[in-house]
Amino acid sequence: MLEKITSVFTEKFAGQPTVFRSPGRINILGEHTDYNEGFVLPAAIDKSIYVAITKRADNQVTLFAGDFNESYTTDTEHIKPAAIQWPNYILGVVDQLQKEGHTIGGFNLVIDGDIPIGAGLSSSAAVECAVIFALNTIFELGVSRLQMVKLAQKAEHVFAGVHCGIMDQFASMFGKKDHAIKLDCRSLEYEYVPISFSGYSIVLFNTNVKHSLDSTEYNTRRKQCEEGVSIIAQNHPGVKSLRDVSMAMLKDNVAGVDSMIFKRCKYVVQENQRLLGACDDLKKGDVKALGKKMFETHRGLQYDYEVSCRELDFLVDFVKNNEDVAGARMVGGGFGGCTINLVRADAVEKLVEQISTAYLKEMNLPLSVYPVSVENGTCKM
Ligand code: GLA
Repeated sequence: MLEKITSVFTEKFAGQPTVFRSPGRINILGEHTDYNEGFVLPAAIDKSIYVAITKRADNQVTLFAGDFNESYTTDTEHIKPAAIQWPNYILGVVDQLQKEGHTIGGFNLVIDGDIPIGAGLSSSAAVECAVIFALNTIFELGVSRLQMVKLAQKAEHVFAGVHCGIMDQFASMFGKKDHAIKLDCRSLEYEYVPISFSGYSIVLFNTNVKHSLDSTEYNTRRKQCEEGVSIIAQNHPGVKSLRDVSMAMLKDNVAGVDSMIFKRCKYVVQENQRLLGACDDLKKGDVKALGKKMFETHRGLQYDYEVSCRELDFLVDFVKNNEDVAGARMVGGGFGGCTINLVRADAVEKLVEQISTAYLKEMNLPLSVYPVSVENGTCKM
């Protein structure tokens, strides 16, 4: 990829670029907990976004996306959302840096990568992190990794309109080879937990669907959680987020008032509890116990949080009673994308054959399969 992006860059622009990489992420457990100030357990993967960049003498900003074979030009005085989507993940970051008072000069940039788009692996966060890291480096802004994460998240809110939590950008920026990140999304304290599933591999199955309401539904879920919090806070003024909420509080305050809000909040409260157990399982290397929790998470996302879809459910149901699969669930925001599966390494090939055939037959869609390894976060190449 380094050679490819460098040669595309030199075809389009003068000068030798610096190349930066930022990875996609998986999440072992802790879905839809980040914006509820809960815990998450993501890890950066061996699929990344790459950015090749040089400074310009003027204030022009010229972008070229390898994936779309498309260019976009603007200048640093007129950074605003574009009518097409892909430049927004780049421009949103420039906008945030400018709002922080940083001076960004003109630049030429080529972007490319191998994270499948719409697969729930956070290609957009990877773009934001690669770009902010690149700009921070070439313009010597001195912004810390954590601050870059926060600005990248804000860029997603403002220029992509998705009120995401902090997990994706954090995982991309702070990823560590062969480790998951246990992140407390309230304090932003984190701990690296070694991933050692001996005899098991992490395999992603991509449904190859992305249902269109995903970002609207995402923002709706976030609001429903906030509504639950405000109902409870009437009787418990100390409650600021679902992180502060117990099942008993939910039952007493929300169950009788709004059954939909109750279901949503119940999932989040349970998922936070599950995550703490899952970290212990991971530390002990107890893949079966961890896998069981992954299946439970999927059911919660399917029935209570209602962010799954029939393609994802089909893939999880297919492996549910397979002795070689310790756990499986949908990963990321939902409404399509991938399932993450813990599969006995010696059984992967057979499973892939069976599930690909069944998926094609039942859903009339091809299944994409990605065995993943866990890698380091954002870096200069
Ligand atoms: C998306 C968001 C994250 C997180 C997940 C669900 O990936 O960007 O912040 O909320 O969904 O866990």
